[in-house]
Amino acid sequence: MKSHSILIVDDEPGFRELLVEAVRMDGFLADSAPDVDEALALVQEKHFAVVITDLMLPGGQSGMDLIGAIRKLDRRTFCIVMTGNATTEVAIQALKEGAYDFIQKPFTLVELISSLKRALNHYATLRENESYQAQLEEMVAERTGETMKLKENIEQLFDSFVAASVTAIESRDPSTSGHSERVAELTVALAEAVNRTEGGVYGAVHFSSGQLREVRYASLLHDVGKVGVREHLLLKAKKLQPERLDHVLQRLYQRDLEQVLDLYQQAWATGHDFDPGLLSTLMKTRQRESDSLVDMLRRCNEPYHLPQSTLDELEALENLDFQHWSGRLTPLLDPNDLESLRVRMGSLTVPEREEVRAHVSHSYRFLSRIPWTGELANIPQIAYAHHERLNGQGYPRGIQAEEIPVQSKIMAISDVFDALVAKDRTYKRSVSLEESLDILTEETRAGLLDRNLLDIFIEARVYEVTTMQPREAP
Ligand SMILES: [Fe+2]
Ligand SMILES: [Fe+2]
Repeated sequence: MKSHSILIVDDEPGFRELLVEAVRMDGFLADSAPDVDEALALVQEKHFAVVITDLMLPGGQSGMDLIGAIRKLDRRTFCIVMTGNATTEVAIQALKEGAYDFIQKPFTLVELISSLKRALNHYATLRENESYQAQLEEMVAERTGETMKLKENIEQLFDSFVAASVTAIESRDPSTSGHSERVAELTVALAEAVNRTEGGVYGAVHFSSGQLREVRYASLLHDVGKVGVREHLLLKAKKLQPERLDHVLQRLYQRDLEQVLDLYQQAWATGHDFDPGLLSTLMKTRQRESDSLVDMLRRCNEPYHLPQSTLDELEALENLDFQHWSGRLTPLLDPNDLESLRVRMGSLTVPEREEVRAHVSHSYRFLSRIPWTGELANIPQIAYAHHERLNGQGYPRGIQAEEIPVQSKIMAISDVFDALVAKDRTYKRSVSLEESLDILTEETRAGLLDRNLLDIFIEARVYEVTTMQPREAP
């Protein structure tokens, strides 16, 4: 307390010096000024804990004016007013102006020092509070910084986790390399284009930055459930696996040999001699017949659309058999192989397609186990609906348009578009940009995809996000 600076303001030099002396005697630092101007000049130069001022001052300005000016310059300074002609009104006005105390002349030095010490005690308490508050603010700022850092670390952890999961999906299914990232880029770009749309069905829809982040994660992870699907189904390019087709062709060859042997046996049984020329002729005849079957098998084995005429030809194979090593007559084609070859479009049978489609439910179960924070809470639901269609013909739940989150409708367009233009899928050819937009338009007409979102996708040229960039090598 002793090191505080005190300013004495009074126009009577003798009295002013007396007060300065008294204050210093009590151990305080003291300055003095004869009028308002000099007093304010000193206040601007340095901080005074207390200003003790006479009410009547020369130069047309009173102690009241001085208090008002000091409060504007330095609100921490306490003011004590001294006056010889005190009235209650004057005292009240001085306190209203912000004076801490009011001393009536004549007063004793003890009274003055006592008022000064009270003011300084109050001053010290306020300064302590200020310092405590500053410490608190510093602590809060520090904790806020730590919390922000922690949040940043968690976000980085999420990013790494998502990237690791994408790596896991794509190492399982290298034929769709980069698909998750491209779907994420397209989906976020379409959501941003929706944000820019004024009017129309989606004019009022706006995704926050948190929701854009949510939809990005949901898109990156939408196919994560493929890790639960058998790899050969994900990679199945033809209806029969190469070893199964070899198996059938080998049986066909064996059947040719068996038939030639039968013919020979018949010839010997009727007394004919061995004729090497006949063997070659019989084998060539058999092979010609078999070649047309092999050609038909190869055509059926492709994943493209199977015409009815080929399907009818396939039926002829159903009745062919060969002799198993056990002696049993066995069908040339196993029922499972026949079922595969009968698939009209694509390479998967119905049970196989169901297994691949189950990736959506696997994704949902996987994502639901992660405690996503508030703004990412909808990730499982968004990913769960990426194969649902507006007319209820989607899977796995077959839900209707109003039950499908808009983020999933956006993702569905990105997902189908990328699947169409992708050049790296083993089971289908890629189509041109123009053709893919035509197919998407057809799908909106069929009630599968959202027409308004596709319009935004095309008008905002969202597709350029991935089609204009060079693809990374798988
Ligand atoms: Fe999918
Ligand atoms: Fe996908």
